[in-house]
Amino acid sequence: MPITKKYKKIVIGNWKQNPTTHEAAKNIVKHIKKTASELKKTITVLCPPFVFLQNLGKGEQPFSKGAQDVSVFESGSHTGEVSAEMLKDCEVEYTIVGHSERRKAGETDAMVASKIKALHFAGVTAVMCIGEDNRDSGGQYLDTLKNQIKHSLAGVEKKNLSHLVVAYEPVWAIGATQAMSGADVHETAIYIKKVLADLFGHEYVVKVPILYGGSVTFRNAGEIVKEGHVDGLLVGRESINPEGFNEILKVVDAL
Ligand code: 13P
Repeated sequence: MPITKKYKKIVIGNWKQNPTTHEAAKNIVKHIKKTASELKKTITVLCPPFVFLQNLGKGEQPFSKGAQDVSVFESGSHTGEVSAEMLKDCEVEYTIVGHSERRKAGETDAMVASKIKALHFAGVTAVMCIGEDNRDSGGQYLDTLKNQIKHSLAGVEKKNLSHLVVAYEPVWAIGATQAMSGADVHETAIYIKKVLADLFGHEYVVKVPILYGGSVTFRNAGEIVKEGHVDGLLVGRESINPEGFNEILKVVDAL
């Protein structure tokens, strides 16, 4: 499901390296399905670890399937890697790239760019994560964001921007106790849009959804999306807590 006139918002659950068993994965899906099927304006995307992708079911579902990473290679001798075509074959529609936890493990902007191109070639939407480690009063973090956007999108074609989502996740707000304020999210989202427009032209980027991620709960979800003027959320911890995630979905859909 792409963002359309009808589906205006998108909430992505990044399960990270959770849960431990197939049974538990199935249980999460079971508890989210009903709420997801009742949403009027919001797309739900679930990104489990690769091994649980099949647990999300086959065919029509009230949510879209997502992955947390992808290989830069098409196929061949790359032990441990999973290709974009394999994900496509598992009915994956969205894939997270450049998450700060992967960047910490060595993923560079150049690798992110290769992954996005591999996803586009396979027809999968890339969810490109960007975010500064810290905020400084001199505004240096804005350059960090600009460089990440520029280099992670190097060689990406304008015509494929319909298959791009940008997730702004300030690293300091991930796994924290407090999310960023809606007003600060808004300011940063404007900046991200401006950088994208300077690179590709306004007409190509108006439809690129901008999401916020970092300590999102049902308590702050509404304020972040409304005051932050973003197109949705990338949720970590609360995405494996069905009750909390369902509430986030409902809050966003009611906006
Ligand atoms: P938390 O929601 O647990 O802070 O994680 C955010 C995140 O990294 C989502 O990709």
